[in-house]
Amino acid sequence: MLANSGPISHHLLPMNAVVEEDGMLSVGGVRLDYLAHTFGTPLFVYDEGHLRNRCREALSAWGTGVAYASKAFMCKAMARLAYDEGMRIDVASGGEMHVAVSAGVPPSRLIFHGNNKSEQELLRAFEYGVGSIVVDSFDELRRIAKIAPQFIDRRASGQALMLRINPGIEAHTHEFVKTGQVDSKFGLSISSIMEAVRAINGMEGVFLSGMHSHIGSQIFNVHHFEEEIRMLVDLADDIMAIPKEGGYDEFELCVGGGLGVAYLSDERAPSITEWAETVKAVITPSRLHITAEPGRAIVATAGMTIYSVGTVKDIPGVRTYLSVDGGMSDNPRPVLYGSGYEAFIAREVNAERSRPVRVVGKHCESGDILIADARLPEDVSVDDLLVVPVTGAYGYSMASNYNKVPRPPVVFVSSGDARLVIRGESLDDMCRLDVL
Ligand SMILES: Cc1ncc(COP(=O)(O)O)c(C=O)c1O
Repeated sequence: MLANSGPISHHLLPMNAVVEEDGMLSVGGVRLDYLAHTFGTPLFVYDEGHLRNRCREALSAWGTGVAYASKAFMCKAMARLAYDEGMRIDVASGGEMHVAVSAGVPPSRLIFHGNNKSEQELLRAFEYGVGSIVVDSFDELRRIAKIAPQFIDRRASGQALMLRINPGIEAHTHEFVKTGQVDSKFGLSISSIMEAVRAINGMEGVFLSGMHSHIGSQIFNVHHFEEEIRMLVDLADDIMAIPKEGGYDEFELCVGGGLGVAYLSDERAPSITEWAETVKAVITPSRLHITAEPGRAIVATAGMTIYSVGTVKDIPGVRTYLSVDGGMSDNPRPVLYGSGYEAFIAREVNAERSRPVRVVGKHCESGDILIADARLPEDVSVDDLLVVPVTGAYGYSMASNYNKVPRPPVVFVSSGDARLVIRGESLDDMCRLDVL
């Protein structure tokens, strides 16, 4: 699909983006040409005010307990920012857990996910005393049963566990599928939940604090979450009917993440507030504590990538290839999922984009395509700064060193300041793990 030929739509830009008098974009009070000159390209730029605004919206919409899904973009500065803004942090590996703790996030604010947590990772989670471990399988429960007794003296209440339910519902941008038979590596099937609950109730040193499920990503229709929350509430009723010593003070039901964001001019996404209101409208207030863990909706639009144009190759009658100095190594989403993006030129944000081009990266791969059918201004040329907006989620976090291309630096911009939060890799970094 060919992108819109008008200027880039401003709803794809971070909230503190401003077009300067000379046409150059600035974000958080810092011009993009200054950022490119100071930090080089490619460069990930995040509007810190936008990140904080999204965290605050999530907190006010969902209430305490809402978590930031750190897989979307994780580094110490991001973990710290989300924690400072009052969010818990969803970590899905020992690595993400390590980054959060290294950033000074109290382990009690972490929710530990993953479909194949190792014994080592679980042991670490118990040692830290993470807020909750979201149990994904019976094998994991067996590992937990081995570990938990060692920690009984440390925590009077025991380690909180949640159960990840595979709801048999899958929703993506435009479809909503209810699968009779459940085909996913994640979570416990609905029919096995009571067995898992009884197993936890019979274990020492742990207690069941809630349930979790996640129905997909890039969901634009928030009504898709209604069926999920109904399913969780029904299960919670069944669980609470099982006699248990001490009963349940409060029981958490987490609907996961998945709220969509607009990547293209003609896309409009619901707000975090609309999402929360829709889900909460389904249930009557009770002991149930409804939470969520958005990732993309917190960070995607806050971030953008600045590249330099290196070559413009015109093949008459075929197409124009425009190569930039990054590609599938800093943004694998187009290659992995066929995800769509738009681009614009930093010095002329409001220019018409009538020239069809294919924006490609510098990797030895014909499939290294960032934007298959982009539109850019007619005068785009070598050395221009090309900006791809909405790259804040699953760009840096999925980046690789393919072709030994160093990963770019990441800066947070705010109130006229640019703060380096991840340094760019050097050529020496390309062999730092080598043993020769
Ligand atoms: C369990 C879980 N929670 C939260 C998320 C975050 O999803 P999103 O970034 O789409 O909000 C994911 C994404 O894969 C997930 O698997």
